[in-house]
Amino acid sequence: MLLNGNVFAKEVLLSEHIEIGKSLYDRSFGRGCGACHEITSNPQLDELIQDGSLNKTDFFETMVNGKGGMPRSEASIMATPAAKESGYSPEQAFDAVYSYLEFLGKDVDSGATVTIEDIKDVEDVTSELDPMPLIRVNNLALIPDEVFLLNSGQELSISIELNPESKIDENADWWVSAYNDTFGWLYFDLTRGWVQIGNSLNNLLPSHQGKLFDLETTVLLNTKRLPLGAYQFYFGVDTSMNGILDDPLYFDNVTVDVVPTGR
Ligand code: HEC
Repeated sequence: MLLNGNVFAKEVLLSEHIEIGKSLYDRSFGRGCGACHEITSNPQLDELIQDGSLNKTDFFETMVNGKGGMPRSEASIMATPAAKESGYSPEQAFDAVYSYLEFLGKDVDSGATVTIEDIKDVEDVTSELDPMPLIRVNNLALIPDEVFLLNSGQELSISIELNPESKIDENADWWVSAYNDTFGWLYFDLTRGWVQIGNSLNNLLPSHQGKLFDLETTVLLNTKRLPLGAYQFYFGVDTSMNGILDDPLYFDNVTVDVVPTGR
């Protein structure tokens, strides 16, 4: 009996640990580690861990110091809601992500006691997550501070999507705007498209007002003719539907720099 009890407690703890690891993996850097690691040219972490070529020591080392195109992750991981709720130390957090990756794809029939479905269920019940607006540049999610370099004449597509999370069906102002030194501020009008409003945000209008819903990827700009220069795009929602940009504002922004071909 005692033995069974212990085994059970261990299983529950393990599944919690993996569940936290999943949240950390999905939430760090805003869009999660998958924003980069789902791309096949980047290391496939679950496979590397499962075939034994990425051990914990190296994993922890990469989390702290970064590696090539891999940013340092500690601050971003520790800023996620799951890290704060769990009270984990950075080492425990890295360990949770590692355990989650180790667990992924494991043959459930071979004696593992938690399934991805269990993990998802627990997460859905326990999380009070904020809305997640996302802007994609040529279908890619960028990480914060990343500047997307575009050669002049190359095709650019800007699209937005929204996961309303726990605020689904709440009334909100929806904001879509852009800034460039030459054009000043613009906002996106659902009937007229991009409208210039000068050098301040005083004339900014919401692009839409209404309940938050799951907005699938929606293209707002598709062009090969953007003049040289840097462009910032913003997409956000705030849940006081009053036509004023106010807190809490959930937003994403990206910078695209159009450079001469061949640079
Ligand atoms: C901006 C994109 C990006 C994000 C976000 C990102 N990674 Fe990476 N990661 C990379 C790239 C690129 C490499 C390959 C680096 C190299 O070897 O030069 C890498 C490498 C790694 C490695 C080393 C693999 C090896 O074979 O040594 C680990 C471990 C890793 N990432 C874990 C993570 C985890 C965990 C997260 C989320 C907390 C994450 N990464 C988020 C881009 C990213």
